Amino acid sequence: MYPVIAIDGPSASGKGTIASRVANALGWAYLDSGALYRVSALYAKQNGVDISDEKSVSQLVRNMPVSFLDGQVRLNNQDVSLDIRREEIGMLASRIAALPEVRQALLQLQRDFAVKSPVVADGRDMASVVFPEAQLKVFLQADAHIRALRRAKQLGLASDEEQFEKILHDIEKRDYADYNRAVSPLVKVESAYTLDTSNITIEEAVKKVIEWYQQVKK
Ligand code: DC
Repeated sequence: MYPVIAIDGPSASGKGTIASRVANALGWAYLDSGALYRVSALYAKQNGVDISDEKSVSQLVRNMPVSFLDGQVRLNNQDVSLDIRREEIGMLASRIAALPEVRQALLQLQRDFAVKSPVVADGRDMASVVFPEAQLKVFLQADAHIRALRRAKQLGLASDEEQFEKILHDIEKRDYADYNRAVSPLVKVESAYTLDTSNITIEEAVKKVIEWYQQVKK
């Protein structure tokens, strides 16, 4: 297996941006594990499979024609990168992510990334379940208000107080579900380095992760 940097953290903590930039800087592959749960939800919906039917969903995703190419997520060779970001798919993904058999079905797919090349992987259980042998484990944190503000800015809604409150509420709800889920909850493993991104820039976060990697690989 190739080296792995595992980056876990809550919703809107900057995981995706930080992990993909670290991967770019090192010339490694990038695994967005959240995208796998999202694409599974989309695939189940396309095939009319009931999300609460654990057996059928897990069987379906075991043979899912998904690929990650040039920064695109493809399903059946169609670019679904934007489709999977829809709120409706996010909600379905979080239900799918609570099904143990589905998590099991996606495990090998995720581990295969590190069979082909070094990888930076981001998600909720990268360090605890998928890559327990990762060379570097990072747990990202950020104040919920700051995360909500970032999300609101992304959506162009930063000056709308009512929308901001809604986004904050959604983030807190998602945090609760992620930390309290029975299977593979979001957890900081003991050996993980904690990085609080509340008051630092993306560039500073990327630099810190690479610095830590240079230290641990010695
Ligand atoms: O990070 P995201 O919002 O794209 O994740 C989509 C959903 O998948 C979210 O509800 C959390 C879940 N997820 C998970 O359970 N385990 C992972 N490794 C990654 C995401």
